[in-house]
Order: sequence, then structure tokens, then C-alpha cells
Amino acid sequence: MSSFVQTSDIDEIVSRLGDSVQSLSGKTVLLTGGQGFLGKYFTSIFLQLNKTVLDRPVNVVVLDNLITAGKNDANLENQENMTFIDHDVIKPFPWEDSLDYVIHAAGIASPFYYRAYPLETLEVSISGTKNMLELATRHQARMVFFSSSEIYGDPDPEHVPTAESYRGNVSCHGPRACYDESKRVGETLCSIYHHKHGTNTGAIRPFNVYGPGMKEADYRVLPNFASRIKADMPVNVYGNGNQTRTYCYITDAMVGFMLVLLKGVPGEVYNIGNPTPEISVHELVKRIETVLGRGIKSNVVEYPDSYPADEPNRRCPDIHKARLQLQFDPQVELNDGLNRFLQWSDEVYTGEQ
Ligand SMILES: NC(=O)c1ccc[n+]([C@@H]2O[C@H](COP(=O)([O-])OP(=O)(O)OC[C@H]3O[C@@H](n4cnc5c(N)ncnc54)[C@H](O)[C@@H]3O)[C@@H](O)[C@H]2O)c1
Repeated sequence: MSSFVQTSDIDEIVSRLGDSVQSLSGKTVLLTGGQGFLGKYFTSIFLQLNKTVLDRPVNVVVLDNLITAGKNDANLENQENMTFIDHDVIKPFPWEDSLDYVIHAAGIASPFYYRAYPLETLEVSISGTKNMLELATRHQARMVFFSSSEIYGDPDPEHVPTAESYRGNVSCHGPRACYDESKRVGETLCSIYHHKHGTNTGAIRPFNVYGPGMKEADYRVLPNFASRIKADMPVNVYGNGNQTRTYCYITDAMVGFMLVLLKGVPGEVYNIGNPTPEISVHELVKRIETVLGRGIKSNVVEYPDSYPADEPNRRCPDIHKARLQLQFDPQVELNDGLNRFLQWSDEVYTGEQ
């Protein structure tokens, strides 16, 4: 079993994308954060498209400074039409060859890591985004920025499920501000470049994506639980456990991301997630028990110092816009996705974070 991604998941994504991918034929894509969780799916999809679908290969240049990815995770050596460059996107990236698409997925996405690296978290979404926008503008490339559902902060219950038009309820001082606020500025930059320079921008707000390939030491909720389950230890529920989330399996999410890249309306922002079911962390534990067919112990604990408190109470996407404009349609039920993820983590995780 692969420690990165499942071949069957990549096949599923490629088959769901159908002919929409032909516009990538012979094009050049710059992918930042390409050694992260989502980045590795992009590279795997592009490799598979080159092997099986595209008339002419897509050429992919991958940038990552490995701040959270770790040196040993690099999986791109000796891959045709794929170049990895160890580069910090906070610094400008000089690129004079052709360029058709920029996918700016570099970021510090896990609360554990953005607590540890607040300034780096801020900079990758601000200076990093500005550098990528400059590049995209110069090359007349389409630039897609990975924002986050966290830009909504703790939404007013009236605005849950949350549509793109909701302006958010975010603190600029809280322990999560470095992430939420810098993603908001990243979106503002995209909007300025689109209006002032005509840059073909798009922004994606993903809602809790999970699946095989998440690092065991990622510290987001599902890898955290899966690692504890592997070690036969109780899972730790932070806060009171009543905070709700929806979870989007990686194949659904990647189809959505690719649709935004290929079909998104220039200048627009899209929620990508699975709107159902919206469940509390306690309910997530119960779902996992159902999937495993056995009980697991859980402790309700205070937020550890390493994890930023001030969590949003609810998070659930309204995806009407992506359904209507991109025909985005999540298909993997939560129990099915959890089953796929937990089978993989049981094979790959060691139980030591
Ligand atoms: N996975 C999700 O559920 C989710 C949800 C909301 C938003 N996002 C956003 O999507 C993007 C990808 O998420 P992910 O889950 O793959 O995160 P990840 O942490 O697994 O990967 C991000 C990658 O970016 C790299 N990186 C960070 N700073 C960099 C810099 N300055 N220069 C170059 N590389 C840098 C890291 O080394 C890492 O490999 C991130 O921007 C994240 O904020 C993800």
C-alpha cells in the first residue's frame, strides 16, 4: 500500500474529470506546496493524465520549501515532465519559460503548525500569493489560490451552511488570526490583480478535506485520531466536543479543485466541500466506531498549548455556486470515506506521532 495516495483514488478522480482535462494538453503548470497533502494528489493526477489521457503531456514545476512536508517525503524524482524545486515562495520565483496555470497550494494548513510558525503562515499567504500573482500576470496564466473555509471565522448560525457571500466573523488577534487573516488578504490580492491587471484568478475555500496521504504527524483531527487508534490509545476530543464540521473525502475535493482550475469563472471564489453530514466531534467518534465495528475510548480534554483554541463552533459549506457553475457533485459518503482512510492509516501509520 502506498504511503502517499491510493491508485484507485487517482483513477476515480481522473475518470470523473472526463474530457474537461484536455485543456491541459501541452501546457505548463506551476504548483506550489506540491509536497503537501493536496499537492501530492495534484502531482499524482497530472502523472496519471500524462500516462493515460492527454494528447500531449502537461509539464509540471513543483515548488515547496518542505517546512512541514519533511525532506523524506519528496516523491517526484525521475518522473517525466515533473520538476521539483526546493523554493520558499515568500521569495520571488524567476521563471522565463512558458506558463499557463499557477496552483498556489503552499500554506501552513494544520493548526498545530500555524501555532508553531505564525509569521511563516502569514507570509506564505500574503507575500507568497503576491509573488505568484506577479508571475501569473506576466505570463497571462490562470492562477488559483488555495484560501480556506477558515476565512469565515466563527459564522453566525444564520449563515450556516455558509455561502461565498458571507463576509465572516474573524478575530485579527486570536491564536488563529495568522491563518484566517492572511488567507483573507490572499483573496484580496487576487481580487486586486484581477480588477487592476485583468489577471485570470480563482480562489478556493476548502472545507476539511481528508484521506490517504495525510501525514501521521499532521495533527488535524482525523490523522490525530487514526494515529491514536493505531496505538490503541484513547482519542482526545478538544474543548467540549460539540463543535461541528463536515468532512470532504479527497477524491470529491480533488475533482472540485480541478474543476475550479479548468472551468472556474475568472475572479470568482468557490467553496469546495461536502455539505453533509454536519456532525460534532463526539458524533465523528461514533461514526468511526461504526466503521471499525468496535468501540474506541475517547477523552474530552482542554486544548493543549500546541493547538490554537478559539475554534469555530460550526463549519458547513453551501456549495450551490460550485454545483451550478462547475457541476461539482460530491459523491463519497462519510462512512465510505472514513473506511477508506482508516484502512489506509491502519497499514501506514505507526502509532507514534
Ligand atoms: N486540506 C484541507 O482540508 C485544507 C482546508 C483549507 C485550506 N487548505 C489550504 O490548501 C493548501 C494545501 O493544503 P494541504 O492540506 O495540502 O496542506 P499541507 O500542509 O499538507 O501542505 C502545504 C505545503 O506547503 C508547503 N509550504 C508551506 N510554506 C511554504 C513556502 N513558504 N514556500 C514553499 N512551500 C511552502 C509545506 O511544506 C507543505 O508541503 C494550503 O494552502 C491550505 O491552507 C487545505
